[in-house]
This record gives sequence, structure tokens and C-alpha cells, in this order.
Amino acid sequence: MINNNKSHKEWLEIHNRAARDYITSEWSREVLFGVGNKRKRLFSRATGNVLDMGCGYGINFPHLINATHITGIDFSPVMLEKAHETARRSKVPVELREGDAEALDFADNSFDTVISSLSTCSFFNPLAALQEMRRVCKSDGQILLIEHGRSTWNLLGLYQDHHAHQMIEQGGCRWNQEPQELIREAGIKIIRAERALLGIFHTITASPEKIG
Ligand SMILES: C[S@@+](CC[C@H](N)C(=O)[O-])C[C@H]1O[C@@H](n2cnc3c(N)ncnc32)[C@H](O)[C@@H]1O
Repeated sequence: MINNNKSHKEWLEIHNRAARDYITSEWSREVLFGVGNKRKRLFSRATGNVLDMGCGYGINFPHLINATHITGIDFSPVMLEKAHETARRSKVPVELREGDAEALDFADNSFDTVISSLSTCSFFNPLAALQEMRRVCKSDGQILLIEHGRSTWNLLGLYQDHHAHQMIEQGGCRWNQEPQELIREAGIKIIRAERALLGIFHTITASPEKIG
């Protein structure tokens, strides 16, 4: 994994700058690359008290049809401003918090389901964020993730490696990361994982795998 030599402040600045482009690129991401369908399929399985880590502008909220309560956390005020609009249209109550996914202000075992989408590549310290997901998820809860990473198609993977620094500078995104390796390293057990679009997108059902 590429080293992150930025400060936390620089990382947040990159994300705030990139937020508007990210929001306006919704059609290509959601429709052309099919992420919208993946969200619909995976996140309809999120039940009970749900945490959305790195919720961005709240694009997952309409898919959380079986949640009883949604907490969305993001460190970007630009993203959260738009997420408030999305939250107002949600049928399920939503609480939004500006905060750091790597140091959550929640007790252990607080959530029935923890979800996150396209965010592990964006966290300053992805391992710390995944460990936090595991900590705040109930022992019998589920962790549902949509991630993207290095392609299994080697030519594309090499292209991603070559442009990795550029992606960090432009969007704070480690696009050649191997998300499943990090998830396992965080002590999360992958129950089912599917890859799509030349192996770039991962749809993952996981368990926090806590003892007791
Ligand atoms: C690529 S966006 C994905 C947003 C949304 N989950 C989606 O699927 O569209 C990554 C999000 O992670 C947020 N983020 C990055 N690092 C974070 C951190 N340490 N704590 C909280 N949010 C963070 C960014 O602000 C951004 O909204």
C-alpha cells in the first residue's frame, strides 16, 4: 500500500476540494460502473441500528430500507452539507455527525450493521478505520462493504500503480489498494466477497468475528 505522507489537515483539505467533483460524477459511477445496483443489493440487507462510515453526501441512505436508525459519519463538512439534504428525504431517521472514522465516539458493540462504501481507499489510516468498524459493531452484527481497489487485470493494475500518487493528490484516493487484505488484517471475517469490473469493485459481507 502506498504510504500516506500527508498531515490530517492536508488530507481533509484534499477531500473537501474533491467533494464537489465526486458529487457531480454520480451518473458515471452509479449508472455506468453499476455501483448504484451494488448499493441497492447489499445495503437492503442492513438491519437495525446502522452506521454508515464515510457516508459522503448520503447516497446510501435510500437503500437502507430495513434500517430502524441510520448514523452517518464523515469528516468533510462539504459532503455533510449535501448529506443533510439527502437525510431530510429519508424515510428512516438519520443522524449525521462530523467526525473521524479512525477514532469513533461510540461505545463498543453499538450498531447492528456497519456499512461503508468506496471509503476505505479514502481513509487516512484505513486499518484504524476498519478496526473501529469492528469495535462498534455488535458481536452478532454484520459489516457490509463496497470497496474498490487494484484491478485483477494486470495491465490496468500497472496503470493504477503508475498513477497512484496522482490519485492521492487529486482525490485522496488509494486506488491500487487491496481492500480484502486490509479487512482481514483488521480482524474482520469476510463471509462473502464478489469482484466486478475487471476486479476493481468488491462487494463484501463480513462479520466482526468477536469472541464471546
Ligand atoms: C469516495 S467518498 C465515498 C462517499 C460515500 N460513502 C459513497 O459511497 O459515495 C469517501 C468519503 O470518506 C470520507 N472520509 C475520508 N476520510 C475520513 C475520515 N478519516 N473520517 C470520516 N470520513 C472520512 C470523505 O470525506 C468522503 O466523503
